[in-house]
Amino acid sequence: MQILFGVFAIFVIAIALLWVLVPAFYGLPPVSSRKERIRRALELANPQAGETLYDLGSGHGRVLVVAAKDFGLNAVGIEAGPVQCAVSWANAFRNGVRSQVRIEAGDFYKSNLRDADIVFAYLTSDHGNRLQEKLSRELKPGARVVTVSFDLTGWNAAFFDREQLVYLYKK
Ligand SMILES: C[S@@+](CC[C@H](N)C(=O)[O-])C[C@H]1O[C@@H](n2cnc3c(N)ncnc32)[C@H](O)[C@@H]1O
Repeated sequence: MQILFGVFAIFVIAIALLWVLVPAFYGLPPVSSRKERIRRALELANPQAGETLYDLGSGHGRVLVVAAKDFGLNAVGIEAGPVQCAVSWANAFRNGVRSQVRIEAGDFYKSNLRDADIVFAYLTSDHGNRLQEKLSRELKPGARVVTVSFDLTGWNAAFFDREQLVYLYKK
């Protein structure tokens, strides 16, 4: 019995460490955007049903669920944290949008974004330059980018929502 308890405790500690340490390694806390902010960001991007949204660093999948459930989008989340990926999968399943949501485990800088109609990113200004270059290279004309709490300094924002700190860009 004690051995079982010990194994269970080690398992829980390992999950907790992975949950916090992987995002920290990538320089970000595993914090989800508020739903109100997600809705505002997606409204600004003028989504059309059936379009594809990418969330770069998709955390627990809250953006993916709102995009699929409330806006009828196909949603792709790219996330480095394995615990966050598992939670996202469970969230999509629980909300009945599993068929519209795809979760890729890994570094979003290694994925190609050519299929994205809308890109959502809640990161930090450290990502500005590198992300900007990638988006310029890979996004198709007409794609929209919404960033939360940081801007793409080399691009002109089409709109800035001061209250929600959301920037809208158009390629
Ligand atoms: C602040 S959270 C945002 C979560 C989600 N997008 C939201 O708005 O609710 C940022 C997430 O990005 C992930 N992340 C940071 N850099 C990444 C990278 N290069 N590749 C994949 N995931 C990354 C972190 O693990 C963390 O879960």
